[in-house]
Amino acid sequence: VKVNVGLVGFGVIGGGVVSLLQRHAEVLKLRSGVEINLKRIADVDLERPREVSVERSLMTTDFNEIIADPEIDIVLELVGGTGIAKRVVVSALEANKHVVTANKALLHAFKEELFRLSVKQKRELRYEASVAGGIPIIKVITESLAGDRIHAMYGIVNGTTNFILTKMIQEQWSFEDALSTAQDLGFAEADPTLDVNGGDATHKLDILATIAFNAQVASDRIYTEGIQALDLKDVLYAKELGYVVKLLAIGKQADEHMSLRVHPTLIPEQCSLASVSNEFNAIMLQSEFLGDSLYVGRGAGAHPTASAVVSDLCDLALSIASNQEFNPHRYSPFNEYTTRSHLEDESRFYLRLATIERPGILAVITKILGDHDISISAIIQKELSGTASEQTIPIVILTRPAREGNLRQAVTEIDALDVTCGKTVILHVEDIEL
Ligand code: HSE
Repeated sequence: VKVNVGLVGFGVIGGGVVSLLQRHAEVLKLRSGVEINLKRIADVDLERPREVSVERSLMTTDFNEIIADPEIDIVLELVGGTGIAKRVVVSALEANKHVVTANKALLHAFKEELFRLSVKQKRELRYEASVAGGIPIIKVITESLAGDRIHAMYGIVNGTTNFILTKMIQEQWSFEDALSTAQDLGFAEADPTLDVNGGDATHKLDILATIAFNAQVASDRIYTEGIQALDLKDVLYAKELGYVVKLLAIGKQADEHMSLRVHPTLIPEQCSLASVSNEFNAIMLQSEFLGDSLYVGRGAGAHPTASAVVSDLCDLALSIASNQEFNPHRYSPFNEYTTRSHLEDESRFYLRLATIERPGILAVITKILGDHDISISAIIQKELSGTASEQTIPIVILTRPAREGNLRQAVTEIDALDVTCGKTVILHVEDIEL
């Protein structure tokens, strides 16, 4: 059996997919019994240097030629973004083609609409590559753990920020050098602000939560903080306390609520996620029957992402070859959970504040925390620091679990004291065990 594929978007990831299909054509055929034939490639730029070369006759600048080709069964959307990419996906589904995409931004913005269209057309829309690159996490959640109930997940799902944090902390690179190397290596988004400000991780958490909790996620209810305001000082204090700082995407579900958050997080240095470095991604799932499980691998870059795209491609090729009937349940969330405000969530917190030198200040601060029902689990007061004219005393506090709303109210009061200087730094702490 031969399945014809059209690729739209011949950039970094597209190049990786073509390379994989060329190198592994034989083994793909032996494994699946299906010949995957890359019939046409569309890209606006036919001249740019690429990792692989293809026959010029395969290429076109007009993706509509792929959509209009009745022999093409599957369209790969690897354009990225939410403009042309959406037109490609919609027109491919409308033309009764299956679609494979790596586009998390597109799914974040339009997944309900696209899933509806997929069901209406009875054509698959697969997106393994959209979250955590090469790690088959979508398959794990939707298939391998289909019988289990996931109630929490913790993910390092942005390779660029993990790479930046690793290089800055372990090798003392500057933020700018780390980011530009991530861009050169092909990890970063076209607009790297989306990596740095947590936007990309939010897009991925939206997708993971939708399938893990079988619920519609109100995308704008995901609390997001990036690493742009993270101070290296806090990473070093965290280390002193036995913690590592990672940008985590966190999803939890209990009762009728979901809690969805992306932010720099202190995690115990001995947990597995703490040692996931560079562009590697990892997702820890907590589920009722399996318990804790961890999935680690490369989350960005041409080859890991291509591996996930081709995995979807093989699945679809097999189902086409075996005339498998379309299953709408895959695209129909059935739980109605609300997304709780992060202010209602309970968590442990790391606080760093600066005070002037005067007797009794710690007592004032700890009283404010106590008045808001916040208990302290560790506290470090450093010696005077700063220039002679503006010397302040850094105080670092770890709290026990507290409601975030209470914590922020207490910090507002602390920051308003005339003995504190500047704004208190607030970071979340998660006591992950595995
Ligand atoms: N910019 C993304 C990252 C690419 O750094 O993880 C993979 O989605």
